[in-house]
Amino acid sequence: MRAALPASMIIAMTLLAACGQPQEPASAPAFDSAAAPAAGPATPDPETQALLASLPAPYNTADVENGQRKFALCRSCHTITDGGANMTGPNLHGVFGRKAGSVEDFRYSEPVKTAGFVWDADHLNNWLTDPRGFLPGNRMSFLGVKDPKDRIDLIGYLMVETGHKPGG
Ligand code: HEC
Repeated sequence: MRAALPASMIIAMTLLAACGQPQEPASAPAFDSAAAPAAGPATPDPETQALLASLPAPYNTADVENGQRKFALCRSCHTITDGGANMTGPNLHGVFGRKAGSVEDFRYSEPVKTAGFVWDADHLNNWLTDPRGFLPGNRMSFLGVKDPKDRIDLIGYLMVETGHKPGG
């Protein structure tokens, strides 16, 4: 008589079949901490390292992995990818070197629209320290990032991720 396959064997075969599936190509972002091995911090890819090194001090020493973690504070309202959507806040791609309040089809508050400066690291540092105090009456409901090192890491991360050009 032919016995049905034991359950354990069926499970083993199923597992084998699963292992045979092709792996997803590794297209993770440079600092996907979730994908980083548990054995230590992820090292940025060489291109990112070179870009980071070209940033003005102190942003050239930014811990971009920490910056990415801090960006979780912004993510609910902002995208940073090229062509990313405006959400509660405007898309931040290319924000360095961009005039404040100038993303088309985003409705800024009057204080941001008429601020008249161009975003650079210093302005961003002041903005993120105390958004309300820096441009009173703006509509970004965010208390700020109080730790100076976290701000450096976050600004470094943004510079690398939003298409900041060396020297720009
Ligand atoms: C609760 C939603 C919210 C969060 C969280 C938030 N923002 Fe914003 N942000 C806004 C809004 C809304 C505006 C537009 C403000 C205005 O027009 O008054 C804005 C504006 C900005 C601007 C000016 C953009 C421009 O085009 O002039 C920058 C830069 C910015 N945010 C960076 C950040 C960063 C970095 C973080 C995280 C540390 C963050 N924001 C967190 C909602 C948010």
